[in-house]
Amino acid sequence: METLKRFISIFMSAVSNCSLYSKEHAFVDELSRKALSILGELYKEADSLEIMILEDDLIANKMAVRDIGIQGLNLIKRLKRKGISRIDFLKGITLSELKQLVADISTTEKGAKPHQHIKVGVVDIRIGRFEIDKDFDIDSLSNFTSEQVEKVKREYNSISPFKKLKIAGLEEIVVQFSLMVKKEINILKLLCPARSYSENDYTHATNVSVLTMFQAQTIGVREEFLRDIGIAALLHDTGKLLIPGGGGFLKRQDSSEAEENEETEIHPLYGAQYLAKINGLTRLAPIVAFEHHLRYDGRGYPKLKGGNIKQHICSQMTAISDYFDNLRSRKPYKGALEIKEALSLMKTKDEGLFNPFLIDNFIRSIHLALSG
Ligand SMILES: [Fe+2]
Ligand SMILES: [Fe+2]
Repeated sequence: METLKRFISIFMSAVSNCSLYSKEHAFVDELSRKALSILGELYKEADSLEIMILEDDLIANKMAVRDIGIQGLNLIKRLKRKGISRIDFLKGITLSELKQLVADISTTEKGAKPHQHIKVGVVDIRIGRFEIDKDFDIDSLSNFTSEQVEKVKREYNSISPFKKLKIAGLEEIVVQFSLMVKKEINILKLLCPARSYSENDYTHATNVSVLTMFQAQTIGVREEFLRDIGIAALLHDTGKLLIPGGGGFLKRQDSSEAEENEETEIHPLYGAQYLAKINGLTRLAPIVAFEHHLRYDGRGYPKLKGGNIKQHICSQMTAISDYFDNLRSRKPYKGALEIKEALSLMKTKDEGLFNPFLIDNFIRSIHLALSG
């Protein structure tokens, strides 16, 4: 992250100098060369640098960048003004391509020129209607969802503090759902209604995974990341299964809200510790497990020593899906809300709970699905 922040700082200095002087000025040349060499360092870790602006957040290679400093804020401001919300710097970028981008960003005109190694665009917020794929047999969808929930149940039952999770089974489930999400099948048809308390854990995990992939798709996250996001969301409550004495609802059908709250306070930590040790699992999984009960304003739990942290965008989306599915499911101490009731309750929740951009997008997208 530090290298990335250095890149942003030097790149924006080049942009400021270009506004003051010209693209050909020695300062601009020197700063662009420096920025290019820092990009070279970044390419040792990934083949491209993708910068995305989501509301007031800067996301680099799908990670929210915290404490971006004055230059980072300047970059967000300039890109917003130019109507750009995404830039991909691909490996092989040349000095002249980078200098052209610097020159483009330094002006107030809309957009910037794309180049062979620079892709510039917007994060697509879909607001159209959901179209059902003509080739897809809708009647088989409920069977499809129940089959996936059965698979989730099998995988969930294999989770224990003494056994490492097998990732292949989870990937298979998420790939199946991500294909459906990509086909823009109406999201509500993919959600599984909670049938009994004993199956709450599995249906909840499945629904949260599907809803989070759906959100990611509606904000234009690239397809290849949907799978990692789906897996992370599917495993968000893993910690509940690791609570000594057996967590989850299986043995807790008469639990009260207070008892559930106690369990809730500790499960993010248990889940993150367990998932962090699994080889080959996306790094998003322990992050989301740890952060999904944090709030957008940094409060919530687990309580953190040394101040609040900002939730990762994937945790922000999972928190929304989680909240929605909890409102919609029956628990020993509360009934289930209808979709519209759940949405209007989430809309009036206090400001710091959810990322305002993401919650607006979620409410709008589910309403569209309802009318679809
Ligand atoms: Fe949770
Ligand atoms: Fe949950």
